[in-house]
Amino acid sequence: MADYPVELERTRTLFDGRRVHIRPVRASDAEMEQDFVRHLSPDSRYTRFMVTMNELPAGKLKYLTDVDYEKHLALVATEQTGDGRQHQVGSARYVVDPGGKSCEFAIMVDDDWQSSGLAGMLMFTIMDVAHARGLESMEGLVLASNHKMLKFARQLGFSQQRLADDPGTVRVFRKL
Ligand SMILES: CC(C)(COP(=O)(O)OP(=O)(O)OC[C@H]1O[C@@H](n2cnc3c(N)ncnc32)[C@H](O)[C@@H]1OP(=O)(O)O)[C@@H](O)C(=O)NCCC(=O)NCCS
Repeated sequence: MADYPVELERTRTLFDGRRVHIRPVRASDAEMEQDFVRHLSPDSRYTRFMVTMNELPAGKLKYLTDVDYEKHLALVATEQTGDGRQHQVGSARYVVDPGGKSCEFAIMVDDDWQSSGLAGMLMFTIMDVAHARGLESMEGLVLASNHKMLKFARQLGFSQQRLADDPGTVRVFRKL
């Protein structure tokens, strides 16, 4: 596993004035990640994971938080709570394809933090990192009914194509 990429840590102010800390995930964030997923609306959980669930199964939780920072890079966005704890409000990740030239991304933002600009901030960060590390393209799979994500991806310059073998899913793609 690569060293923790501390250089990717940053604090940002959103246009509505809220402050958010963005940093690579740690294996010790598993409980925070699970709380984040439990707190999402059922619709946001479904559009992200494409299955109905209330919380992450143990294996999936480990996969999402115990990453190697090379083939799998994940960022979390957190806010500081009144009692000094960190509360997760978003995450974005990419996983490098076996060929080593492209990657697949995923993103999710707490419902109370959607339309805040946080999602764009997370996406621009992972696209910049992927590009700086020599990856040439990024793609993602989105439910055809997920109009919010499709609009968001279009604004970020991703092209869209329905999967021939699964018309309920759209592949979004862009060069980095
Ligand atoms: C899909 C998802 C990531 C999109 O996030 P989002 O919150 O809509 O994205 P943004 O924070 O960029 O907000 C977009 C809106 O805020 C506005 N906005 C963003 N930054 C702004 C700024 N600085 N000033 C003014 N408005 C701004 C945008 O114009 C846009 O408004 P519009 O929808 O009226 O056009 C989010 O809905 C989500 O997490 N969904 C659940 C999980 C999911 O579906 N994931 C996708 C599977 S990979």
